[in-house]
Amino acid sequence: MTVRKAIFPAAGLGTRFLPVTKAQPKEMLPLVDKPTIQYGVEEAIASGIQEVIMVTGGGKRAIVDHFDRSVELEHYLQERGRADLLDILARVDRLSDEVVITYTQQKEPLGLGHAVWTARLLVEGEPCAVLLADDVILCETKPVLKQLIDAHAETGATVLAVRKVPPSQVSRYGIIATNGSRNGLHEVTDVVEKPIEADAPSDLAMLGRYVLAPAVFEELGHTDPGAGKEIQLTDAIKRTIGRHHVVALEFEGDYYDTGTVPGYLRANLMMAMKREELRGELAPLLRELLGD
Ligand code: G1P
Repeated sequence: MTVRKAIFPAAGLGTRFLPVTKAQPKEMLPLVDKPTIQYGVEEAIASGIQEVIMVTGGGKRAIVDHFDRSVELEHYLQERGRADLLDILARVDRLSDEVVITYTQQKEPLGLGHAVWTARLLVEGEPCAVLLADDVILCETKPVLKQLIDAHAETGATVLAVRKVPPSQVSRYGIIATNGSRNGLHEVTDVVEKPIEADAPSDLAMLGRYVLAPAVFEELGHTDPGAGKEIQLTDAIKRTIGRHHVVALEFEGDYYDTGTVPGYLRANLMMAMKREELRGELAPLLRELLGD
């Protein structure tokens, strides 16, 4: 079955970024000049997704406004003949023409698994993608989500995006156990949320892109709180292993973890340096700061 829908869990409180996230969703923090969540929505559209389901909570109005039209701003720019800026607005507007965006509320912060489960009635029993907006992954040849969707089309399995991480970092992620790979896909035999280094079954971490078979939603309904006392998506996936096929794909693409302050700053710097108009000013500044 084709994957038509994608869930964006966006209800988190963003406490790692306080105070900027006190009155502003962390998903709206920019990477250079584009909100983090827009990268994910663009990736979903480029991967053939037709419906984006945003799971939001209180204080997330700015996300809704961002993907809506701003007639007032358009008039303002038209009067001043700013075709260049109108073009940037039009590009954002087009996103909500290319995909239906629906919103549902997670009423309590009970964890990632609970946020995904909140969207179950909109998913209507279909296989469904999940994108974590914190994890920005750019790939010029094929968007990461499309890589996963293609793997799902071949296997019918739940597909997890994974990449090797240094052993010292395994406790920050969901980690897979695998008994080998077939056709470039790891056969997943177990998943563990945020293991301590000594207990990690591998160094392959799940990095924020999933295609979930409907069985995962059934399990989410009765998954108890796990790591961090939160209902974990990883735990629901684990409960399907054995009865349902779960595979992991070592994806291609540049990965930016924008969910921590150092990761966010790194992503901004790296993306800014890729922009010709900014690199000219930034490169000498960086050299100066490093004392070269
Ligand atoms: C979540 C998932 C984890 C995954 C990570 C990727 O954790 O629970 O399995 O590896 O995203 O970024 P979080 O970063 O929300 O703590």
